[in-house]
Amino acid sequence: MEATLVILKPDATVRSFVGAYTTKVILDQGYRVTAFKWVQVTGELAEKHYEEHAGKPFFNWLTTYIKAAPVVAMKVEGENVIQGIRRMLGATMAQKAEPETIRGKYGIWGGVNVAHASDSPETAKRELALWLTKAGLKENENGQEKAEEYAKSRQATKDYTKKLRETCKALSERRVSIEHAREAIKQLLTEENPNAKPHHISNLTEAIIQNFLLP
Ligand code: RTP
Ligand code: MG
Repeated sequence: MEATLVILKPDATVRSFVGAYTTKVILDQGYRVTAFKWVQVTGELAEKHYEEHAGKPFFNWLTTYIKAAPVVAMKVEGENVIQGIRRMLGATMAQKAEPETIRGKYGIWGGVNVAHASDSPETAKRELALWLTKAGLKENENGQEKAEEYAKSRQATKDYTKKLRETCKALSERRVSIEHAREAIKQLLTEENPNAKPHHISNLTEAIIQNFLLP
């Protein structure tokens, strides 16, 4: 049976209905979650996880984004699960992802794109070993049950993806200032999930903004 590593990134966990929805789609496909853990990523884990991107212009941004709020790490098993979940997520850049995919539905902009999934059997092996040893991800600790519980935990009462993207689009075209976009995004994220911690919302907002300032 094939296995992959899925990480619900800070935008999915802060906008908790997005994390819950993504988990539900994984479970509805019939895949099994054999490990499930909330993790606050450290600098060391971020750099090791994304080592293939070291030296790229977005590397520092990426390691900061993944630390913006706790993430959910899952080991997911099933037939052709690696390709299956990559397809389900869609293209990397949120605004370009196919509309029926998870990133197409809920990705905010650019690399702020809901979830990570291993891209090959070799990568899956390396990433699972890393998270099992360095992030305390453990198998056989009711992963499936925890995933089912999380999937049921929150429905979308408010979905501001469209509004968030409109603000991002305006910023990308420099129709609004960075300061205006920062305030608008923070307000939308807060209204969307009033239970999210303000410093997680601030960190995520900054990751969204900084994404536009990459070289
Ligand atoms: P992932 O590794 O997160 O599953 O995503 P992926 O395979 O689709 O994309 P990859 O090329 O591996 O890039 C890893 C993550 O880096 C961010 N990224 N930002 N702003 C940019 O130009 C840029 N390019 C990549 C994204 O968060 C991407 O998922
Ligand atoms: Mg990748």
